[in-house]
Amino acid sequence: MVPALSLLLAPARGITDAVYREAFARCFGGFAGAVAPFIPLRQGQPMRPGELRQVAPEHNRALRTVPQLLTHHAPTFAAALRELHRLGHDEVNWNLGCPYPMVAKRGRGAGLLPHPNRIDAILTAALADCPVRLSVKLRLGYRDPDEFRTVIEVLNRHPLTQVILHARTAVQMYAGPVDIARAAQALALCRHPFVYNGDITSPDGFRALRQQLPGTAAWMIGRGALICPFLPSQLLGAPLPDPEIRRRQLREFHDRLHEGYSQWLSGPGHLLDKMREHWEYLACGFAQPRQVQTHVRRAGDAAAYAAAVAWTFAQPLAEPAP
Ligand SMILES: Cc1cc2nc3c(=O)[nH]c(=O)nc-3n(C[C@H](O)[C@H](O)[C@H](O)COP(=O)(O)O)c2cc1C
Repeated sequence: MVPALSLLLAPARGITDAVYREAFARCFGGFAGAVAPFIPLRQGQPMRPGELRQVAPEHNRALRTVPQLLTHHAPTFAAALRELHRLGHDEVNWNLGCPYPMVAKRGRGAGLLPHPNRIDAILTAALADCPVRLSVKLRLGYRDPDEFRTVIEVLNRHPLTQVILHARTAVQMYAGPVDIARAAQALALCRHPFVYNGDITSPDGFRALRQQLPGTAAWMIGRGALICPFLPSQLLGAPLPDPEIRRRQLREFHDRLHEGYSQWLSGPGHLLDKMREHWEYLACGFAQPRQVQTHVRRAGDAAAYAAAVAWTFAQPLAEPAP
């Protein structure tokens, strides 16, 4: 029997928050679950209420969401896992992939990849008496693309639900080619369900990836879905809707984001800023994304923003990649 295809929405801090996940699930579907953007833990301190609100079950009804933690401090980690369990979560993800120097240079995120012994010690301490299950999201390495080998050997010794690999090093950030050959080696080494992540952007490309990485348990998609929200459903076999239906769905998605943030954020300035961030990706749904971004960026108040959005949704749509 062919296993069902499982697609997961990747965490993208600032973008795939609770409002986004809810709107995406209601307008486009296709994802079986999501990992939320990381919550950075402050040593010895509880998580902030605003961060907890993002992953609270009542704000994540439309899509099963696993919170993600960024930390290298085992006692704080263990306390956060207990707190998330109290909130109602049964699974949490640990971030071993964040590449930003502010994070990595302090030995968190991808900064832990050159130190498999530290990873081992943190997992041993955090998972002792832990009420939730843990998955890990990592990169191939910090600078050395072969660090994953020892790291996965360490991960194999702990009871994890999934290992999610973004097939780049941290110094590559988000550009340059993904390394499918090494992803295949990681898949072969890993004894946990393996999730592939990186540059899934089209049905044709995805078909090729599935052949290169047979045995992959699930596929995590970030920018491909932010740019073309129809992609996950397409990968599951749904036909691409006609342009007028796509236009209506995109408009509904936009309106849900706008309405959601008007409730979550305080003041029209914050609302406009947040919507501008989203237009970096939403604009790619239109044939002339630069023009769209310029219109939205120039809108200085709510009335100008509404006019820019009305103008945008009268423009031709982009044709998604085959
Ligand atoms: C703006 C942005 C924010 C991100 N934030 C996170 C994050 O909070 N946690 C994480 O594990 N990865 C984060 N990532 C990485 C993505 O989850 C994903 O691994 C990466 O974008 C590669 O997948 P893609 O090619 O499908 O986008 C972020 C990526 C972007 C572009």
